[in-house]
Amino acid sequence: MTASITPTKQNKSIRNHRGSYWITTFGCQMNKADSERMSGILQQMGYKLADEELKADLILYNTCTIRDSAEQKVYSYLGRQARRKQSHPNLKIIIAGCLAQQEGESILRRVPEIDLVMGPQHANRLETLLNQVDNGHQVLATDEQHIFEDITTARRDSTICGWINIIYGCNERCTYCVVPSVRGKEQSRTPQAIKNEIKQLAKIGYKEITLLGQNIDAYGRDFNSGEHNFSGQITLSYLLEYIHDIEGIERIRFATSHPRYFTKELIDVCAKLPKVCEHFHIPFQSGSNNILKKMARGYTIESYKEIINYIKKLMPESSITADAIVAFPGETLNQFEETLSIIEDLKFDLVNTAAYSPRPNTPAAKWPNQLPEEVKIDRLREINNLVEKTAKERNLRYKNTYQEILIENVNIKNTSQLMGRTRTNRLTFFPRLSKDGRSQQIGDIVKVKIEDIRPFSLTGNLE
Ligand code: SAH
Ligand code: SF4
Ligand code: F3S
Repeated sequence: MTASITPTKQNKSIRNHRGSYWITTFGCQMNKADSERMSGILQQMGYKLADEELKADLILYNTCTIRDSAEQKVYSYLGRQARRKQSHPNLKIIIAGCLAQQEGESILRRVPEIDLVMGPQHANRLETLLNQVDNGHQVLATDEQHIFEDITTARRDSTICGWINIIYGCNERCTYCVVPSVRGKEQSRTPQAIKNEIKQLAKIGYKEITLLGQNIDAYGRDFNSGEHNFSGQITLSYLLEYIHDIEGIERIRFATSHPRYFTKELIDVCAKLPKVCEHFHIPFQSGSNNILKKMARGYTIESYKEIINYIKKLMPESSITADAIVAFPGETLNQFEETLSIIEDLKFDLVNTAAYSPRPNTPAAKWPNQLPEEVKIDRLREINNLVEKTAKERNLRYKNTYQEILIENVNIKNTSQLMGRTRTNRLTFFPRLSKDGRSQQIGDIVKVKIEDIRPFSLTGNLE
């Protein structure tokens, strides 16, 4: 997944103009949120957004390393900029994010044109690090950091929906996953800091917030240790109640949830709080208990089903999405079929799928029972067909219903249309004008009658 940051608002206290910048973001929402904060810092320093990547004076790649393909993509982008630097020696090249953390100094050896390598825990320190670059240094910032509260205003992609980090890092040790080694230990932000950030967003017109964390239902557990004085009472359930009533915010979402920590109490709280949307992203990774054990996920497929069934019991309209990995080392055909059958059984609204990719410094990468590439390709194709079919079947329930849509933007592919999402997170397109000729505004919540169903989006008309 790649995204470039598009202009939103100008920051008022901008210093002298320093040149233009361009950020390309790879990877997950955590990286996107970090990019928005780094974009805010660059603007604060006096950089302006470039018209296009190849004209920018400063290039920042915020990278991902979750799979080998994500890593290779970054290197191909980097090669292009390294060549450009030969004719534009003042070009600054920054590599941030998870690949930067993983590779550290070796990325500088591989691409010596890079000026700054910075891990995700250093995102808020961009100004300090760039000042060192301006003093003529090639800078490597990958040491473990306590993440300080950010005082810069993030420059966000959307003017309606905002991402709010609530917990950084991950303390799990899933045997396939590189995240704990690149994002470091869990660090929860205080409920007060989170509430303040949301209040500020509400003040400038934001309507929806998504709380972010790699393992979000672990929120608060690090408060039991370290320098915080909180007791063990600070949990995601507590936080949802604590931030719920902020005026102006209409919708609250959170991701990503880990089945190991997803409690009945949390489901009860979600069902009770009206702004919490009926969409839950809870990766199951595999339908086989044997594989789950080898992945060190810490739950069984039965306990996973129990969670989903309880959500559906309290909130029957809910959409459930997940992630799954196929062709994990040693996965038998039978075990792969168990993953397919959980998708048939639980009828997911969407499943993000991937073939297992061995990652550096992870236990599973060293196991001898790796599966051949052809098996990975076949299993991925088969699961994707099933996911698409199930998603379309699930979407049929929307046909001819009225859905509450928060208007997020114009549909860039057809500007006579607007786009938004249902509370259940389904992307929905509809004409800008209602039947009586009124034009709807971005940020409005409208009722849309759903008429066309596709696997991953809906189209309808205003009431
Ligand atoms: N914290 C989340 C997942 C974060 S990574 C969780 O625990 O579920 C996002 C997704 O990438 C994972 O859910 C997993 O499906 C996929 N993934 C992670 N490592 C992978 C690997 N080595 N190969 C293939 N897919 C992987
Ligand atoms: Fe990776 Fe597991 Fe942490 Fe998710 S919970 S980020 S899969 S180690
Ligand atoms: Fe990628 Fe890092 Fe996110 S590895 S998926 S950008 S946490």
